[in-house]
Amino acid sequence: MKDTVLVTGGTGFIGSHTTVELQQAGYNVVIVDNLSNSNADVLDGIEKITGIRPAFEKVDCCDMKALEAVFEKYNGIKGIIHFAASKAVGESVEKPLMYYRNNLNSLINLLELMPKYGVKGIIFSSSCTVYGQPDAENLPVTESAPIKKAESPYGNTKQVNEEIIQDYVNSGAPIKSIILRYFNPIGSHPTAYIGELPNGVPANLIPYLTQTAAGIRECLTVFGDNYNTPDGSCIRDYIYVVDLAKAHVCAMARILDGKAEEPVEIFNIGTGHGVSVLELINSFERATGVKLNYKIGERRAGDIEAIWGNVDKANKVLGWSANTPLDEVLLSAWNWQKHLVK
Ligand code: UFG
Repeated sequence: MKDTVLVTGGTGFIGSHTTVELQQAGYNVVIVDNLSNSNADVLDGIEKITGIRPAFEKVDCCDMKALEAVFEKYNGIKGIIHFAASKAVGESVEKPLMYYRNNLNSLINLLELMPKYGVKGIIFSSSCTVYGQPDAENLPVTESAPIKKAESPYGNTKQVNEEIIQDYVNSGAPIKSIILRYFNPIGSHPTAYIGELPNGVPANLIPYLTQTAAGIRECLTVFGDNYNTPDGSCIRDYIYVVDLAKAHVCAMARILDGKAEEPVEIFNIGTGHGVSVLELINSFERATGVKLNYKIGERRAGDIEAIWGNVDKANKVLGWSANTPLDEVLLSAWNWQKHLVK
């Protein structure tokens, strides 16, 4: 058995897939999650896939006392992967203080506890949202592209959290950190035992698309086809959640095996390819054989026209790459949707 890793937000979409990959790589996982946007049944799905039920504590990372009790109970936590956060862009505009309180306090609490409990490193979930709309000459965007002023309180919490980590490590704290900037995570585990569980009407493309294909929503609206892109719809870098989960295992091993060269390292985690909304719909129809009801609508306020990542650094330094073909990824999302409807 390898080291023990604390996964905050481990019952969420990316957290649950990462827990599976960590367990399959031999790590012992302890999950903390306040279940504010997830469900403890996810633990059953993880157990069905890996044969191991991860330790679970229903704890809010903002609750310092309860969080410290977790470190006391599971003596010997060596690494943390910090997913737990509020993540709805629109909601963050309406409830900024909730976003700043949740997303900043939870990280600060974890960082404060790390030296006391001998935790060596923390992997932080950041986002390509920190780049805003990169200038055309900066696409695909590298880690050294300029950070743009955040478009939302949610985006700002990612930027400020990156700075908090840098400042804390620079102050001489005896920890290391790897910041992963995700592009657009999609898809579900190939077993369909775990997947994305959005609350209410989905704001993101894939759950809205699969719910439309399943007849739960009438029609998918493509938000604009008059952008300055080849087919006029927006371009993103859609990364398979299982590939993304594996990037965390590589990053954790890099820290725990003492291979990290800098105290804080930053990696883009994407495929390196941009795909438009219309291309993605075509790919979904091809992969699943399901005809999708969609229409072209107005642009969505605040949308970025085109962004995709340069992932050379992650490929070379982490020895990781995202290889799953988009059709297969979309089929996994569809299989999960069918599993939910059952
Ligand atoms: N889209 C549609 N119709 C929909 C939903 C989305 O056409 O019903 C389009 C959007 O306009 C966009 C693309 O699909 O072009 C992807 O949209 P998502 O909402 O799925 O994802 P975003 O790229 O807007 O945002 C995501 C996360 C944010 C994060 C951001 C950058 O939702 O949390 O990536 O990291 F900040």
